[in-house]
Amino acid sequence: MAAALTLIAGGLLLSSSTLGMSALIAGKGKADPFPAPDQAHCVNPPSDLPPDASVPGGCCPPFQPGTKIVDFEFPTGPIRTRPAAQLVNAEYIAKYEKAVSHMKSLPEDHPHSFLQQAKVHCAYCNGAYLMGSDKQDYQVHWGWFFLPFHRWFIYFYERIVASYTGDDNFALPFWNWDARDGMRIPDMYTNSGSPLYDENRNTCHQSPIMVNLAQPESCDNASVCSNYSIIYTQMVSGATDYKCFHGGEYRYNTGEKPDKLRTGTLESSPHNVVHDWTGSSTTPNGEDMGTLYAAGRDPIFYSHHANVDRMWTVWNDNLCGGNYTDTDLLDSKFVFYDENMKLVQVKAGDCYDISKLGYEYQELNLPWLERGHAIKKAGKLWPKPSTIGFIEADDQPKLLTEPMTFLVTRQIPTKITEEDECLDIEGIV
Ligand code: C2O
Repeated sequence: MAAALTLIAGGLLLSSSTLGMSALIAGKGKADPFPAPDQAHCVNPPSDLPPDASVPGGCCPPFQPGTKIVDFEFPTGPIRTRPAAQLVNAEYIAKYEKAVSHMKSLPEDHPHSFLQQAKVHCAYCNGAYLMGSDKQDYQVHWGWFFLPFHRWFIYFYERIVASYTGDDNFALPFWNWDARDGMRIPDMYTNSGSPLYDENRNTCHQSPIMVNLAQPESCDNASVCSNYSIIYTQMVSGATDYKCFHGGEYRYNTGEKPDKLRTGTLESSPHNVVHDWTGSSTTPNGEDMGTLYAAGRDPIFYSHHANVDRMWTVWNDNLCGGNYTDTDLLDSKFVFYDENMKLVQVKAGDCYDISKLGYEYQELNLPWLERGHAIKKAGKLWPKPSTIGFIEADDQPKLLTEPMTFLVTRQIPTKITEEDECLDIEGIV
């Protein structure tokens, strides 16, 4: 039995790790859920920005002391279907453009302005909420908050957008990078005259170049086969339990630091890798998509995250499935402005059932899954892709001047244990 693991050497800006399997780091036991971040003590500028970051006005949301924060109420309207971005028609694109253009024209400190949306992400990513007596960073990446936070974040973004399209049933398009037809930047984001365009993108990754999950810094077109094998690894072979898939625990009031978190397989890749592939190679930190504080400035962010969110539903509906049930996670709270400009608090665990949030995803084939199952059934390895060099793990020494992908043979586990598999890589000098 063999598993393809992607080892990316060098400067991925968002990745803490791109390995699908890593050692399971035990949590420190019971603590408390994170309370709703106190808006009056939001840190401006945030405490954890990368070098040369430009965040005029900081990342805190507009807030008047005394403003009441209300509890979230589930929507009651019909179920809205999020479509694949490459399949929508001109009328749909015009609606989305109209809304984003309006949001971009609002004053920057308006809760619905497009820049504010990016700032919401920055605040939860770059240390604007330092919580409790030890000023613990409420960090929503690299662990169990990743999937719930981003589901909530794009839920509110979608409701705000819908309110400016004039179509309350408007649903976000997802970037279908897990299928050949969706692997390039969707057309709606490539028109430089459109509000959905962002000039801070890697110039050698423009359409029709397809996302390259094995080598996000390369200008070469992707191997579809290699992309499928990486997605299969992250969604199936490397994601055999919910802790691997979601990432590690991160508890309030424990003194834990986010840099010790364990990143889930989906977050590591394709999530991080698609961010890095999209962001510019000439901005200081890969802005926009390649760095957390600026990623939400590119409208494609919300379609990227819609697909990450869709992958979570695929994992639960078709694969191993499972979510954390620990109340330290479920009862942790986030705060967002809703479409009516109310400040709303939500619980992380209240987003597990997307039908309660009033949306679903357009059903499409999952070629990486079909292909992976067929290959597994035939007892074969993924064919070697032609555009990247697979090397055997025990091959001759290689110079790490660029990312490399290894094929590693592993034992079939004799019993299922709570332990994760651990891949030790030695001899990197
Ligand atoms: Cu909060 Cu795609 O990152």
